Amino acid sequence: MKTVVITGSSRGFGFCLAREFRRIGCNVVLSAVNEENLRKAEAALKNVGPGDAKVVRTVCDVTDSDALQRLWDLAKETFGAVDIWVNNAGVNSPDKPVWELTEKEIGFLLDTDLKGTVYGSKVAFAGMKEQGFGQIYNVEGYGSNDAMMTGLTLYGTSKRAVTYFTRSLAKESRDLTGGRILVCRLTPGIMITDFLHTANGGSTRIELPEKTRKVYNILGDRPETIAEYAAPRMLANTKNDTRIIWLTNRRVFGRFLTAGFRKRDFFA
Ligand SMILES: NC(=O)c1ccc[n+]([C@@H]2O[C@H](COP(=O)([O-])OP(=O)(O)OC[C@H]3O[C@@H](n4cnc5c(N)ncnc54)[C@H](O)[C@@H]3O)[C@@H](O)[C@H]2O)c1
Repeated sequence: MKTVVITGSSRGFGFCLAREFRRIGCNVVLSAVNEENLRKAEAALKNVGPGDAKVVRTVCDVTDSDALQRLWDLAKETFGAVDIWVNNAGVNSPDKPVWELTEKEIGFLLDTDLKGTVYGSKVAFAGMKEQGFGQIYNVEGYGSNDAMMTGLTLYGTSKRAVTYFTRSLAKESRDLTGGRILVCRLTPGIMITDFLHTANGGSTRIELPEKTRKVYNILGDRPETIAEYAAPRMLANTKNDTRIIWLTNRRVFGRFLTAGFRKRDFFA
């Protein structure tokens, strides 16, 4: 039975991934910053999937590398090994140009989205190297492919760096450990989650302009759709430096082509 650890899995994409892995029959370790939300997430997974797999939860703030080490230790002690580790926890930028961001806002985003991924990868890689196998997935986002948008400079900077970091760590894995540890990327596209509306840990509300909502209605999807696509592909993957991508150029083209017939409104 496989064991999957996911950071930021109390809600959104992380939670949907956890549910999908649970449905397939994996042990799942849930983690996020809020104990109460984690408890609810765990309860929601109780009757999902076969009875012999287990779900455990623990508070883990990804900006704290000791907390990530405790997360690894809990998973290892409970299940004996970790097959898949997903660095999913992330926060959005407040919708502002760089010169209006406070030092605190800059630190909060980079600490969570970039440092959290670096710390999580470091802890998981060290543990997987010792056990001799494993897969690490880092979640890409806007900016990973060098796209730019006003108000998203800092978020895009961190996701561009996450992409570079992940690919370079995959090279280190190949060069120094024979690629036994697979270091890979998950590229979910646009997901209709709380993430789109909040920044600064929920204290800042982001209002999406009409034009942005139109694009999201065409290209966006519920996180459960993307989790359903990604989880079996992650489990089946045997290649280092793999990228599991939902919103391919082909899908984007198809979505714009059929937009007139689809009439979706996620924001009604
Ligand atoms: N929503 C999108 O359109 C979209 C698109 C591409 C990529 N992503 C990325 O996907 C990932 C998940 O996004 P989502 O839309 O599900 O967001 P979300 O806001 O719904 O969920 C984020 C999760 O991360 C957790 N989290 C936040 N800060 C944390 C910290 N310091 N330590 C531990 N957990 C923390 C939250 O508690 C929550 O469980 C993020 O990395 C995000 O950048 C999102």
